Amino acid sequence: MRLADRVQQVADSITLAVSAKARAMKQAGIDVVGFGAGEPDFDTPQFIKDVAATSLARGETKYTPTPCIPELRRAIAEKFKRDNGLTYTPEQVSTGAGGKQCLYMAFMAILNPGDEVVILSPFWVSYPEQVKLSGGVPVIVPGDEARGFKITPEQLDRAITPRTRVVVLNSPSNPSGIAYTPEELKALCDVIVKHPNVWIFSDEIYEKLVYGQSRFVSVAALSTELYDRTLTFNCHSKSFAMTGWRLGYVAGPRPAIDAINKLQSQMSSHVTSFIQQAGAAALADPRGSESVEAMRKQFELRGRRMWELLSALPNVTCVPPGGAFYCFPNVSAYFGKTAPNGTKITDAISFSSALLETSHVAVVPGNDSGFDTHVRLSFACSLEQIDKGVGRIAEFLKKLS
Ligand SMILES: Cc1ncc(COP(=O)(O)O)c(C=O)c1O
Repeated sequence: MRLADRVQQVADSITLAVSAKARAMKQAGIDVVGFGAGEPDFDTPQFIKDVAATSLARGETKYTPTPCIPELRRAIAEKFKRDNGLTYTPEQVSTGAGGKQCLYMAFMAILNPGDEVVILSPFWVSYPEQVKLSGGVPVIVPGDEARGFKITPEQLDRAITPRTRVVVLNSPSNPSGIAYTPEELKALCDVIVKHPNVWIFSDEIYEKLVYGQSRFVSVAALSTELYDRTLTFNCHSKSFAMTGWRLGYVAGPRPAIDAINKLQSQMSSHVTSFIQQAGAAALADPRGSESVEAMRKQFELRGRRMWELLSALPNVTCVPPGGAFYCFPNVSAYFGKTAPNGTKITDAISFSSALLETSHVAVVPGNDSGFDTHVRLSFACSLEQIDKGVGRIAEFLKKLS
């Protein structure tokens, strides 16, 4: 039977293939060190779970308004004011099943066939695929490792054409772990504001996870001009360790939010009813930010340790992570070598697959993120796992011939 052409346009996820293989090996009893997962290893803070349990017990199991219940909409608007200096009315806010669905609905709401979307590389794997599904054309601007993967205003200027409708910004970034400074973001935005029809999608889901000198700033807070053309995306997944809850949110100019709500009303109606009060409590209750800060401190220690160990590996280079929970080392010096299992290492996929099979360490090849020379390691795991896993990588590299 025939399937839709749009399915053919979407790439199969290499990331999922690697995780499936790692999971099968674990199930077979093999001691795999997993650096693949893009989610915190911590549990959701108990007080958030308690609010959800109370919601369920109270029978809050029915349909809600499409954007979400008023309490959550208000809590999100208040969070933007308090944390980001952004004034959004509750009507300028909507929610979706994770940051992922919010981004997808926004591309669907804004793009016409053939519209171009500028994406900075290395990028989160779903941006180009969501753009294609929405009829748009991804235009990739490669970051240079020597500049910490940051693209220059000149590069961005060259990438914007009369067909450009959206520029996606993601700082701190998955998979590179880099964080643009407020000044660098402003310089990129100065280029974008020269083009009156271009929206900015600012994916700020890692805002709470910044380390060292990095300082987070919301793009829409940089100027009124930017506020008027930016959709700001965030979610509970990474900061509150709530990946499985599927709760994300988006805020911006009313016409765009209304369009997103219109689409959502026909797609999924709204996010699960009995997680909505808990989502509001996570943002409004001071215990929410205390938990986030406790987790951030742990991530900072782990990130530093992982980066030090990776940087000490011969012929491996790694930009220090300024945010999120990823290191993104360059392993291309080992291309052309052969692994003990006979695999010829030609790119990040063959590197990751040989590493998993022979040394039982799961990493994510950068191919799906625009870099076939790099692999992504998540440091959302214990210091012991980091020591053990990077130790195994060191042994693996020695065995390549
Ligand atoms: C940069 C980025 N944006 C959006 C998402 C989606 O997050 P969620 O799990 O809330 O859908 C992810 C998840 O990994 C991400 O890394």
